[in-house]
Amino acid sequence: MRPAPSTFDLLLKPLHRWVWTDAHRRARKLLRFAETEAGGGRDLSRAAELTGDPSLRRLFLRHAEDEQRHADLFRRRGRELLSASPRHSRFEANWLAPGERGLDDLRVDSETDESLLAFLHLSEKAAAGRFALYGQVLDGDPDTREVFARVLEDEAFHMNYTRKQLARLAPRKQGLRLWQARAGRLWKAYLRLAMALASVLGTLMLWIQYFMLLPPFALLAKRGARREQPGFRVSRAPTPLPRQY
Ligand SMILES: [Fe+2]
Ligand SMILES: [Fe+2]
Repeated sequence: MRPAPSTFDLLLKPLHRWVWTDAHRRARKLLRFAETEAGGGRDLSRAAELTGDPSLRRLFLRHAEDEQRHADLFRRRGRELLSASPRHSRFEANWLAPGERGLDDLRVDSETDESLLAFLHLSEKAAAGRFALYGQVLDGDPDTREVFARVLEDEAFHMNYTRKQLARLAPRKQGLRLWQARAGRLWKAYLRLAMALASVLGTLMLWIQYFMLLPPFALLAKRGARREQPGFRVSRAPTPLPRQY
């Protein structure tokens, strides 16, 4: 199976091209990808420890080494770009171009071999499609394009071996496992969207409070302060206490 970008990503290709145009943003994205790949490598080493299947253990260890190598490749290229373009760009567009998303959601301790393989297959397939697209839009940066081409070869292997191993371990239930993994990914995508929406709404509510509710109180306080006479004054109101003790 050859990796191909999803229809959704292909439709957004001009947007992806724009995201990767800025060299500083490119550097920051590669450094972020490096973190995800390194974390994925650690999780796969843990998966190799947990599985009771010898051939799966060997494959998980190779997979972990691949992800660690991807982390090194992305980090090295990210640092090169960063030193060549010190201009600051804060916008990374991670919602649009997230890299090998899925590896960051991995919880190997709570997965069986079958569910882990189904989850990995879908994540690797999505990542391989994205990396193929990033390579296509990096016209002006052949070095970064070369990095994606090298990573893509491994991602295609990850995508294929996970599918074959799932078919070996669960010949009758492979469709069900893939469907369950797909539902899990959809649920996580929904949660990510809901969190992003909650963050936007929270910011909006704070802005409304700050610029619409607080100004009248600030004006009233200013008016009250203008009426106050300066210095210490004894209150004219009678005190309820006749003496001190
Ligand atoms: Fe990777
Ligand atoms: Fe991978």
